[in-house]
Amino acid sequence: MAASRRAPQPTLPTLAAPPAARRLLVGDALQLLRELPAGCCRCCVTSPPYWGLRDYGVEHQIGAEVELDHYLRNLTLVFGEVRRVLADDGTLWLNLGDAYTSGGRTWRASDRKNPARAMEYRPATPPGLKPKDLIGLPWRVAFALQADGWYLRSDIVWFKPNCQPESVKDRPTRSHEYVFLLSKSERYYYDQEAVREVGSTGGSWRNRRSVWAVHTEPFPEAHFATFPPKLVEPCLLAGSATGDTVLDPFFGSGTVGLVCQALDRGCLGIELNPAYAALARERLGWPE
Ligand SMILES: C[S@@+](CC[C@H](N)C(=O)[O-])C[C@H]1O[C@@H](n2cnc3c(N)ncnc32)[C@H](O)[C@@H]1O
Repeated sequence: MAASRRAPQPTLPTLAAPPAARRLLVGDALQLLRELPAGCCRCCVTSPPYWGLRDYGVEHQIGAEVELDHYLRNLTLVFGEVRRVLADDGTLWLNLGDAYTSGGRTWRASDRKNPARAMEYRPATPPGLKPKDLIGLPWRVAFALQADGWYLRSDIVWFKPNCQPESVKDRPTRSHEYVFLLSKSERYYYDQEAVREVGSTGGSWRNRRSVWAVHTEPFPEAHFATFPPKLVEPCLLAGSATGDTVLDPFFGSGTVGLVCQALDRGCLGIELNPAYAALARERLGWPE
């Protein structure tokens, strides 16, 4: 039938876009990622446990490996699965901080402000390193992922103006961590406009720089380091569009979920510790 002869159609009300999907899976990241379909997430923003730093008190936890190489292998396996579940133009924003070798101590006493810093064990000094050596953990992980096929695109320095004081007298107090930007392919989704910053002399907007000053923000209910939302925000803005699904396979208290909600992104979280998963659900108002 010719278009002109067609009966006038009633105007349909515009439907609001469906709310972006939100899901939290409880269990081991590697196992659960293997069950997800390829290409289902646009970007991944995450902070895995650092090696030998905290005891999350759950079997299969990453970070409690006795050997540094096992830690690197476990993370490489997890992020290999992350790469599979990312869209071909997807990115990984990976936060990691560094640590020192234990210098022969085999345990760490409880810290009054931070009970999870107590460790029943401290890993031995890895081969090739000496007591007091800075391990270079973030870069070791970054190089392992690069060797596994990821494109290592940027090392972003997260400068913490309110860092914890340290009782050291022979080196500067550490006041930074890293956020690595890695991509699955040579060309990838990166919304440069969404993360422009004001130039140092004020006035003009310029391409985002690679040092980000963001204050740490304690989340009192969690006994582990949580992301400041302000650190997650630029990663989501550059790495995803409204309605995309963002992955965090080490969800903790769910900060990535919080920022996804604020920016209208879908979110898929994975967390091993059921108590932390419950904490995140309560914080985000997500049902079981
Ligand atoms: C540094 S915390 C993440 C904190 C999170 N970014 C936040 O803002 O709350 C790391 C998390 O990884 C979890 N984890 C450790 N091993 C895991 C594994 N094998 N699979 C999934 N989660 C794991 C820990 O229980 C912990 O909650």
